[in-house]
Amino acid sequence: MFNDKVVYQIYPKSFKDTNGNGMGDLQGIISELDYLENLGVDILWLTPIFISPQNDNGYDVEDYYKVDPLFGTDEDLEELIKKTKERGMEIMFDMVLNHSSTAHPWFQKALAGDKKYQDYYFFTKESVNWQSKFGGSAFEYVEELDLYYLHLFDKTQADLNWANDEVFQELCKIVNFWLEKGIRGFRFDVINLISKPQDFEDDLEGDGRRFYTDGRHAHEYLHRLNNATFGRYDGVMTVGELSSTSIEEAVKYANPKNEELGTIFNFHHLKVDYKNSDKWALKDFDLQEFKDIMISWQLAMQEEDTLMSLFLNNHDQPRAVSRFGDDSYEAATMLASCMQLMRGVPFIYQGEEIGLPNAYFVTIKDYRDIESLNYFKILKDTLSEAEILKILQARSRDNGRTPMPWNHSKNYGFTNSNEPWLPLSKSDDLKTVEENLKDSNSIYHFYQKLNKLRHEDDVISKGSIRFLNENHPSLLVYIRKYENKEYLHINNFYKDEVDYELINNNGRIVLNNYKRKSLEKTFQLSPYETLVIEL
Ligand code: GLC
Repeated sequence: MFNDKVVYQIYPKSFKDTNGNGMGDLQGIISELDYLENLGVDILWLTPIFISPQNDNGYDVEDYYKVDPLFGTDEDLEELIKKTKERGMEIMFDMVLNHSSTAHPWFQKALAGDKKYQDYYFFTKESVNWQSKFGGSAFEYVEELDLYYLHLFDKTQADLNWANDEVFQELCKIVNFWLEKGIRGFRFDVINLISKPQDFEDDLEGDGRRFYTDGRHAHEYLHRLNNATFGRYDGVMTVGELSSTSIEEAVKYANPKNEELGTIFNFHHLKVDYKNSDKWALKDFDLQEFKDIMISWQLAMQEEDTLMSLFLNNHDQPRAVSRFGDDSYEAATMLASCMQLMRGVPFIYQGEEIGLPNAYFVTIKDYRDIESLNYFKILKDTLSEAEILKILQARSRDNGRTPMPWNHSKNYGFTNSNEPWLPLSKSDDLKTVEENLKDSNSIYHFYQKLNKLRHEDDVISKGSIRFLNENHPSLLVYIRKYENKEYLHINNFYKDEVDYELINNNGRIVLNNYKRKSLEKTFQLSPYETLVIEL
């Protein structure tokens, strides 16, 4: 179990540039290992660093065995693995096995007419009406072959056919290769989409997802992958990214008895600001909905003694501090404390530990993300450019991808190049890493405390969870309990002060983002206050 570990997600392109090409690289990560170790994280998840045309920032892999020269060399990677281990940390790789880039030699051979390799993918005589997750049809026509192929994401990301045993063996070979190199963690990209139906049919009710989400053989494939690769080693942490799944399915993937995955990512709690489930329609976030989702997922996972991952940020999401808060210290620390001290495995996404806010771009020229650029075009049919830019400011994945502001030198110390690959956040008051490190009351130091609690306090790592005040309009409240020790955890999600009444005020304050020294039986929670009390 990994319930006393903390994962830190690095988006290498935006972490730190040492060779002046405007993009972060492996040497940049190596140069900041002290920073990461001092933060108190255990596992470093790197989003894909393999050779790739970078149409989807590395989620379109051309060679699963080699580091993309953009990020450095194979030797740099070996150095990174070695130096990380020397500090008692491990590297987690991001395996994109649902699809490959169309630049991958397998796909290129398929395109050249090789039937064996056409069977590695899904080539069909006719297309059906399924929609790609990045907009447009999920089938692309290849004139020379007079065939279509399936791509659930960009048309340069062709879906791999896991039903073909040769493909399955190739994928196992890749995972085993990296295990032998010392990789001790894997994040599997959109892994619940790997089992497609035998025949494709039009979806008369939706965009096709019901035919391939948690498909018929998904659990079986994962079980076999586990047994043929990482399950043969001790201490490999795995996390599966699940797209549009259900609680029942998620619990099965993560249940240790099933030997599939260690933990899972689900995204239901990050859709509570989608209007009518539409990512591109704005709405204020709905706290009650957020709570209902967290409560049901936490309890279902607990029931089966299974772990979910705890996160509000990643490279596909706008920054939580801007989305659910007001970019302040109080909002950043409350959100972190509320999520990270629940039952499961916490994930920190690069930048959140310094309160990095959204990008606040005002022109389409600043965006790079393929999904954002596609939707900019698609939404033009119905909305004005100003309206679309407002939506992108709230929803674009680039909000989470802006480079790390290290200090106040050129480009915030991220790169010497005159052109960082993506502009830095335009927020007026970015707090840099340097500022965070200097200030003992900074967000960074608050995260250090959270990580220490996760490592050292059994209530946090092993305790059970139950929820209180479930319908309170502004508070999220829960109790963690281990043996005779109980923590009450109160979080105010808004700027307004809120009265709260304790059963008794003899408790000890374990954690707080204000300077509260003592407790009254009835007291007022301050804006975005988080308070953990040992009862
Ligand atoms: C996952 C990744 C995302 C990528 C997509 C396709 O959702 O997190 O960044 O675009 O899969 O690989």
